Amino acid sequence: MVSAAFYGLIAMSVGVYMAATSDYLFKAAHGHLNLLGWVTMSIFGIVYFVLPDLASTKLAKLHFYCAHIAVLFLSGGMAIFVLFGSTNVAKVGAVFAISSMLLFLFGLIKYGSDNTSLPHASVIDSKLPISE
Ligand code: HEM
Repeated sequence: MVSAAFYGLIAMSVGVYMAATSDYLFKAAHGHLNLLGWVTMSIFGIVYFVLPDLASTKLAKLHFYCAHIAVLFLSGGMAIFVLFGSTNVAKVGAVFAISSMLLFLFGLIKYGSDNTSLPHASVIDSKLPISE
């Protein structure tokens, strides 16, 4: 979650820069850093919080690094494309992004059902009346 918030902060700062200067060169990089960095990484973080058995697997650790490489190479690669015209870095980022989603899906299918009871049910119940 901390890295998701960090990506969101950087992406929004680029958004403020674009809005302030009307220079929209980096809008694709901004959009993808927000959606892949802030939103998607937040979703991964919340799912791993709710499913700690899944989060403790080697697969989840591999997914963690794969997802970060995807965010940096895809959104960074889009900035490199508008500056230098090369799509190579963004292409590497795209491969890591789709691999990251495949690893996540595989982890959910293989380990997701292990968490028969929500680990933080007592915490969640005290805050959200789920059982009602
Ligand atoms: C401080 C907050 C933000 C500011 C100031 C900002 C500013 C901008 C600006 C100026 C553009 C270009 C608009 C145009 O094409 O005319 C843009 C595009 C975009 N923004 Fe933001 N934005 C912010 C937050 C976000 C967030 C939180 C998300 C998603 C979670 C987001 C997703 C996008 C997307 C998907 C685009 C379109 C990119 C494209 O056309 O390739 N933005 N934003």
